[in-house]
Amino acid sequence: MSYTISPVVSDDVESVLKFLKRTFYLDEPILRAVDYCQTGNDDTHDLDEYCRHSLPGCSFQAKDEDGNLIGVLVCDRCPVVNPTDCLTALKDCKSPKYKTVIRMQIMREIIAEIWNQYPNDSELIEIKMAATDPKWRNKGVMNKLMGVIEKTARDLGVRLLRIETSSAFSAKSAESKGFKCIFSRPYTEFQFDGKPFIITEPPHLDDRIYIKELF
Ligand SMILES: CC(C)(COP(=O)(O)OP(=O)(O)OC[C@H]1O[C@@H](n2cnc3c(N)ncnc32)[C@H](O)[C@@H]1OP(=O)(O)O)[C@@H](O)C(=O)NCCC(=O)NCCS
Repeated sequence: MSYTISPVVSDDVESVLKFLKRTFYLDEPILRAVDYCQTGNDDTHDLDEYCRHSLPGCSFQAKDEDGNLIGVLVCDRCPVVNPTDCLTALKDCKSPKYKTVIRMQIMREIIAEIWNQYPNDSELIEIKMAATDPKWRNKGVMNKLMGVIEKTARDLGVRLLRIETSSAFSAKSAESKGFKCIFSRPYTEFQFDGKPFIITEPPHLDDRIYIKELF
């Protein structure tokens, strides 16, 4: 089973979005927890806009021998201090389910205070989404894409790589690639009025942020 990896360019944005809708949108643990969508045809305006805003960035895609997309890593250069992105997203968000996701992300940013952990870095490359076609999972596609974005970050002279892992499998990938876990919190501890508002399925029980310092 061979595949090739290439950068996502402007002409690829809609095909990558279509791929994310049938993979990430349905299977990412937080989106599943809020029951964001059930099929690739649901109204997902808010997340679609976020993806369009993030793509192509410095994202990479994997394609099989027939040219079908089998994996994507959505990546972009971001300032280290970036909570304003979430606040704007919350203000503009229409879907109550997606609002719940953004609220959790804002809590995470405020608790993690990444800007205090890396006061001398003004930017990083954030791996914003990772998705592999269900038929290709657990075959090393994400690990391969992680190696490619690391090389790209080095070539661009960006010192920090960041990934938030809602999936236990993306967390494994980050760990095997030498990332350091700088934030970890069980989803049950994200609470509103004393009640958890994100209930994920095992083994995806912890929200984590990983960083790799490249030089
Ligand atoms: C997370 C996801 C992108 C991983 O992609 P993948 O191509 O299957 O990942 P890989 O095959 O490179 O595996 C990465 C690591 O997870 C492990 N892993 C992957 N699937 C696994 C499974 N079903 N059971 C146990 N371990 C698994 C691999 O062994 C590997 O560990 P290692 O780095 O220690 O060798 C994929 O599961 C997916 O698309 N999930 C839905 C969307 C999502 O949750 N995205 C991540 C949000 S942060």
